[in-house]
Amino acid sequence: MHLPDYREARTRDKRSYQRLSFSLDSSIMNKYAGKKYFVKTYGCQMNEHDSENICALLETLGFLKVDDYPDADLVLLNTCSIRENAHNKAFGMLGRLKHLKQVNKDLIIGISGCMAQEASVVDQIMRDYPFVNFVIGTHNFYQLPEIIDQAITSSKQQIEVYSREGDLVEGVPVVRTSPFKAYVNIIYGCDKFCTYCIVPYTRGRERSRKKEDILEEVKELIRDGYQEVTLLGQNVNAYGKDLYDDYGMGDLLEDIAKLEIPRIRFMTSHPWDFTDKMIQIIGKYPNIMPSIHLPVQSGSNRILKRMGRRYTRESYLELFHKIKETVPNVSISTDIIVGFPGEEEEDFLETLSLAETCQYDNAFTFIFSAREGTPAAKLEDHTPLEVKEERLQRLNEVVNASFLKNHKKLEGCRVKVLVEGISEKKDMYFGYSETNQLINFTSNQELTCGEIVEVEITSAKTWSLDGKCVSSN
Ligand code: 5AD
Ligand code: SF4
Repeated sequence: MHLPDYREARTRDKRSYQRLSFSLDSSIMNKYAGKKYFVKTYGCQMNEHDSENICALLETLGFLKVDDYPDADLVLLNTCSIRENAHNKAFGMLGRLKHLKQVNKDLIIGISGCMAQEASVVDQIMRDYPFVNFVIGTHNFYQLPEIIDQAITSSKQQIEVYSREGDLVEGVPVVRTSPFKAYVNIIYGCDKFCTYCIVPYTRGRERSRKKEDILEEVKELIRDGYQEVTLLGQNVNAYGKDLYDDYGMGDLLEDIAKLEIPRIRFMTSHPWDFTDKMIQIIGKYPNIMPSIHLPVQSGSNRILKRMGRRYTRESYLELFHKIKETVPNVSISTDIIVGFPGEEEEDFLETLSLAETCQYDNAFTFIFSAREGTPAAKLEDHTPLEVKEERLQRLNEVVNASFLKNHKKLEGCRVKVLVEGISEKKDMYFGYSETNQLINFTSNQELTCGEIVEVEITSAKTWSLDGKCVSSN
């Protein structure tokens, strides 16, 4: 048994990890053939992609996927710690699983993901949730087959969570959710240690994959007919810093663009590491999508400093305008936190005015949530929740107005859309534009999912656009 340890997570040595190739103990391959599994994923794209690996690992044991958890022999919750409500959702689901286990005593229940890396969560599971069979951390999830086998063959709760730096393992099997859009990890972890954020503790320090391994994965995706890759990392701009002297995110983007996959996206970018070279490369290659997620978090210099963000309102705006000027028709989205400890009305007004200035194309807005073990959780916080809720609402009004205004500008224009499917309610096709807007559209011809078509925009809404297909391949 290995338990998570905050002190170890905070002081871990960046160079202490190993680069390994995945291997599976052949004695357990297909050992559970015919059993069924259900994986519930919470949180970000990184977690969604981890779940694609988790599903493949379960399938090496012979498990088959089912769509409803009551039909499963094994239920795994791949959890998120970013805000308290992510915790609450996972614990709510554990409550439902407890009832299910009273009826089905053989049900195997497991927890993976960021919550598994939190000492307090693991303590709670050991104390109050004895029916959970196993807990596996983010750093060793590739050991899932062995840990599940141990959980099934022994009657003891298995807890295998490491807080030392996670090894970087190549060749972990994957079952991709989409046959035309794929996630590709390029860098794990984060070194920024923003004062509110738990990610550096749950995901570790920045560790880049080797460029050869990434390029090989993208080439394989192209051979398999994929149209779009999203390069993933908690901070993709830091790519390569830990590995190479003179090869970074700009170089990687250029090398991937030259492979000629139709669409390249990447997320998330910290404004700190966004280089001029990156901006130029994004502007130069039409297959790098002109859509950038650039979290600002706050428009107040005083709060940005307390958040440990390493930039000012002025330097963020300078970067923002440089991107807008260099990349034609770029869309920029952001994340904003309101109610950070010590945020006064005047700080919030700075955030509102920054949102007015930037006229974002999309924004994810949150109320600050204190995460145990982070520096911000120890700061005094006098602002009542009602005031924070009211600020969130005022901010949402400003950002929603800018989404609609930007969308209105597209009425009558033609945009390229990667067809994803038919929307359930509206009997219309849907897909995303190059600038990452959701487009619902009609077509006189039957379309195939995964093809890129041209759509004329007929009407704009706040979160989507309607249109009609004007050309397909
Ligand atoms: N409270 C509220 N929002 C948070 N985020 C990260 N940590 C917290 C927190 N403790 C938000 C940030 C980040 C996004 C992924 O989640 O805006 O960019
Ligand atoms: Fe949530 Fe962050 Fe973990 Fe993703 S990396 S699952 S957003 S805590």
